[in-house]
Amino acid sequence: MELELAGLSEEDNLNMHDGERIILRLTYISRYNTSNANIEVARILEQAQRNNERKGITGVLVINENYFLQSIEGARPIINELLRELVKDDRHFSLQVIECREVEQRRWNKWSMKYLTLGDQDIEYVLKFSAGTDFNPYLMSTSQIMMFIDTLSELQGQREKYAFEMKKS
Ligand SMILES: Cc1cc2nc3c(=O)[nH]c(=O)nc-3n(C[C@H](O)[C@H](O)[C@H](O)COP(=O)(O)O)c2cc1C
Repeated sequence: MELELAGLSEEDNLNMHDGERIILRLTYISRYNTSNANIEVARILEQAQRNNERKGITGVLVINENYFLQSIEGARPIINELLRELVKDDRHFSLQVIECREVEQRRWNKWSMKYLTLGDQDIEYVLKFSAGTDFNPYLMSTSQIMMFIDTLSELQGQREKYAFEMKKS
């Protein structure tokens, strides 16, 4: 009996590591849980960055006052493990997977978790990619969401570069 159990756990262990070299990118949307008074975006971000660095996860998190939009990439078993944690996390709810695909290369390879906020200056892109004047990712298609994240990330990159150049001169 003992031998059998030992055999099983070894198999489990092997299964856990299956797919380690396969990189998965998972993108989801969720609603910010405003009834949870303790919610603090800074804490979520700090936790994500700390854990992700350790687990080889990279990604981007878009936040506004109602929604989260996150894209995470990493080894397939690790991403699945994080998905289970995310579904259980009551700081957000109504999690909907937008896209989950195997990728050759990481898109967010520089960031353990890049943080993007939606400001007034982004309204043009909100209008361009979403279904109405308000930002509501639940009304957006997968391609609109993916283009939106890409555009927002590019814009923020340009702004950061500009701020850096200004500081230097
Ligand atoms: C919107 C949102 C995004 C999150 N992103 C991550 C993440 O990228 N990585 C991570 O480890 N945890 C993330 N978390 C937290 C997880 O749900 C979970 O609490 C955490 O992984 C538990 O791990 P720990 O207790 O070992 O720190 C996120 C939570 C929320 C609400």
